Amino acid sequence: MPPPPTQPERVSPEGTEERAAGSHTEERLNALLQALPDLIFRQRLDGTYLDFIVNKPEELLVPPEHLIGSNLRDLPIPQALIDTFFMYLQRAIGGGALQVFEYEIEVAGKPQYYEARILRSGLDEAVCIIRNITERKLTELRLHQQEEELRRHRDHLEELVQSRTEKLRQATRELEERQVQLIQAEKLASLGQMAAGVAHEVSSPVGYVLSNLGTLSQYASALTPLLRLQRELLDTQGSSSPDTREALLTRMREHWSQQDMDALLEDLPELLQESLEGARRIKEIVQSLRMFAREDSGEPQLADLNVELEATLRMVWNELKYKCTVARDLQPLPPLRCHPTQLSQVFTNLLINSAQAIETRGEVHVRTRHEGGEVVVQISDTGKGMTPETLSRLFTPFFTTKPRGQGTGLGLSVSQSIIARHQGRIDVQSAPGKGTTFTIRLPLAEP
Ligand SMILES: Nc1ncnc2c1ncn2[C@@H]1O[C@H](COP(=O)(O)OP(=O)(O)O)[C@@H](O)[C@H]1O
Ligand SMILES: [Mg+2]
Repeated sequence: MPPPPTQPERVSPEGTEERAAGSHTEERLNALLQALPDLIFRQRLDGTYLDFIVNKPEELLVPPEHLIGSNLRDLPIPQALIDTFFMYLQRAIGGGALQVFEYEIEVAGKPQYYEARILRSGLDEAVCIIRNITERKLTELRLHQQEEELRRHRDHLEELVQSRTEKLRQATRELEERQVQLIQAEKLASLGQMAAGVAHEVSSPVGYVLSNLGTLSQYASALTPLLRLQRELLDTQGSSSPDTREALLTRMREHWSQQDMDALLEDLPELLQESLEGARRIKEIVQSLRMFAREDSGEPQLADLNVELEATLRMVWNELKYKCTVARDLQPLPPLRCHPTQLSQVFTNLLINSAQAIETRGEVHVRTRHEGGEVVVQISDTGKGMTPETLSRLFTPFFTTKPRGQGTGLGLSVSQSIIARHQGRIDVQSAPGKGTTFTIRLPLAEP
């Protein structure tokens, strides 16, 4: 192997010690060069190889003995690579700056990667160090492929998440729509349940208002002739004879006693008062019914739950009155932003459930209070209570223990979803024979 061209000749007149030191340096340098894994060439600007150090001759593309004096142009490598080498060789020698570049060639059918570093080493020549970086390159490539694969995986996952989210959103929308339908269905069912009662409730005032009107019309018939006689009497005043007037007065007296006008006059205000009350009661029932049946506008409104409860109680009164007395303990409440018709639907269901749970006679207790940031409504009854089995399935849609036609099993599940829509809670306490208490808590400030 020729000595490296960069090796400075160290000649010193000082004697053998200097020479010995010089050969030491040389030895160390040689060792260093032989330990390097690189191919090192010295090369002229025209591409001629002047010198080389190669520790792994099998990496050379030409036999080592033919290398010196041969030219880059004659190497069995692609022309494009030869051109690249020349470009960097010229840059290194012309500009003086270190040139570094990487390239790939196929050796024995396998791609090999190299890094070339070219540095000017004289006027017309450069040192070229070539290092095999295949291993690093392959690792990099593998890493890159893995990254690519990871990216594809991540993209795929993101797509999956997106499509699932969309599906979930769709399902939620459908669920919400179905819930609205369910609320409406339950409302219609309880309306149906109440219709007979309401009809009965209206029919009694309608009955006595009608009968009173009949009596009043008879009274009017009795009053009319008397009033006519009075009119005649007024007309004759001053003009006709005292006999005529006396005759008129006698007829009036007769009529008064025949028709029992005293009793009529006594009865009249009572009849009118009763009829007015009946008409008012009918108006009230119809109003409550309209309130219950009205469509929810969708926008929450400010409402006093005590007022809603009173209206609901009026409406379901017919369902309750044969079974129980209702005790009210309604504390003043601040206005609550809510859907009043929906809450009234909840109260209706709870009150009717209570009445249905009472077998003979009992009591329903309605309590409201303002506690912390919440409005609390409590409806308890002294009914038959619930078994743990019923308690555990209470809010399940279509769960009912009532005979066909009496229960839909939707009341509590719909009530629960209405309360949840108001960010509230509905709790129940019950035991067989001990009655039942439902407690509803509704937050005042929207979260
Ligand atoms: N106050 C109550 N006392 C006893 N049982 C009740 C009470 N409220 C509800 N339940 C039980 O819960 C069941 C479900 O009630 P709900 O969802 O309103 O449906 P429905 O009233 O149509 O049966 C009732 O069938 C009944 O067994
Ligand atoms: Mg019910």
